[in-house]
Amino acid sequence: MQEVEIHNSIFESYITENEIDSSIGKVAEAINVEYQDQHVVFIAVLNGSFMFCADLLKKITISCTVSFVKMQSYEGQQTTGKVNELIGLTEDLKGVDVVIVEDIVDTGNTLVKLHELLNHKSVNSIKTATLLYKPEAYKKNLPIDFVGIEIPNEFVLGYGLDYDGLGRNLSKIYKLKKQ
Ligand code: XMP
Ligand code: MG
Repeated sequence: MQEVEIHNSIFESYITENEIDSSIGKVAEAINVEYQDQHVVFIAVLNGSFMFCADLLKKITISCTVSFVKMQSYEGQQTTGKVNELIGLTEDLKGVDVVIVEDIVDTGNTLVKLHELLNHKSVNSIKTATLLYKPEAYKKNLPIDFVGIEIPNEFVLGYGLDYDGLGRNLSKIYKLKKQ
């Protein structure tokens, strides 16, 4: 599909399945090298990262476990500036090496909130893997360690990312079409 209509907005094809797959391959390879002979706990941020997390972990060869946290900062096509934790982390993470798995890093508000939560649990280290990264929108100092694809400051959906709940099922990534 070249275009999709969601909630009365038109979105056009932007990043293909092949581009997504090869960028995930690069992220996985970098993580496999970085944590060779170590154990990693992946913490995926729901809802958006479920598809990226599934495809990324199929390419991970090091020892690992995965857990999920549910955070929400977006309403419609805009960040609210507040980050709500909807499902929390219940397990003991003391001393573990964590890789946060994000669909997209935008302002960085979600990442900062997650770092606070994880530091509270006395983890050993925290790094971030994200499929998409909007450098123009990012306002924080935390490093983004493993980036799939850098994109301009535009609203995107598909491959897990949604517009008010819809569009997560699309297998490629679309961006809002300028009228
Ligand atoms: P922040 O601003 O906290 O944003 O870095 C992170 C979360 O906001 C959502 N987000 C988007 N969702 N299209 C979406 O469908 C976008 O362009 C977009 N930008 C941010 C997403 O859930 C991300 O984890
Ligand atoms: Mg998200």
